[in-house]
Amino acid sequence: MAATAENASVIDQVRAYWNRRPCNIRHSTKPVGTREYFDEVEARKYFVEPHIPAFADFERWRGKKVLEIGSGLGTDSVNFARAGADVTVIDLSDESLELCKKRFEVFGLKGRFYSGNAEELSKVVPVEKYDLIYSFGVIHHTPDPDKVFEQIKQYCKPETELRIMLYSRWSWKVFWIIFGYGKGQFWKADELVRTYSEAQTGSPVTFYYSFDGVRRLMHDYDVTKLSKDHIFPYQIDKYVKYEYEWVWYFRWMPMPLFRWFEHRLGWHTLIWARPRPGVVSA
Ligand SMILES: C[S@@+](CC[C@H](N)C(=O)[O-])C[C@H]1O[C@@H](n2cnc3c(N)ncnc32)[C@H](O)[C@@H]1O
Repeated sequence: MAATAENASVIDQVRAYWNRRPCNIRHSTKPVGTREYFDEVEARKYFVEPHIPAFADFERWRGKKVLEIGSGLGTDSVNFARAGADVTVIDLSDESLELCKKRFEVFGLKGRFYSGNAEELSKVVPVEKYDLIYSFGVIHHTPDPDKVFEQIKQYCKPETELRIMLYSRWSWKVFWIIFGYGKGQFWKADELVRTYSEAQTGSPVTFYYSFDGVRRLMHDYDVTKLSKDHIFPYQIDKYVKYEYEWVWYFRWMPMPLFRWFEHRLGWHTLIWARPRPGVVSA
């Protein structure tokens, strides 16, 4: 996916995909856009992905400038704002961004919202230095992730922190997709992962990375910590009905063993990084 012309059409597909079904939009059955709806979306998201609040560490960013790339419905964005951060968000999907804006409005919070492609960040978001650049589950969905990390540098001062989640190559989810959906056709792994990575099938772009792959992608940044988390343990047919029953093969596992397994084969690679000295100016 190197050619720009090709990428131009791929990015349109990515936008259309997330506009069709914004991420987590079915996390509640309450009327979309109401306070009850957003509360339920948040409760379900952090119930199913309980590692997020600790990773984002919302309280730490009180009084600091946070740039979130790919806010989706804004579950994390509002929590940065609630904690007292000065929040700016960008998302490619207007449908998602409208709901994110609405969410800030419903809870009486302030933020700045930009619609656009993070690969062209500086054409969309005014260039300023941020304390935190946060992006959870986004950059692996854009056709040219290198461009995003190249752009981010303009928003960094030497002490800026990056907290990024990218999908993991060596993960239970990838094995499960290849063997469950792909009947073991590991040579079709990229296509299978794209097709089945999300709740809505057929994501146009889904990359997934080893720790070495993350370091290569983020070569202009010092990756200070890498860790894996998140194995989805629920029966999907029940989960879509808001029932949370574990699949039989995880049910027997003592929690410490399951957590050990998540740290080795989790789908979410959590990345803490800073720009390399000399790469950005103060
Ligand atoms: C899986 S959702 C994650 C949303 C949110 N971070 C969360 O955790 O709920 C991916 C989001 O990334 C956005 N996205 C994908 N490619 C993008 C790009 N090139 N620029 C900006 N946003 C992008 C999509 O529109 C979508 O809202």
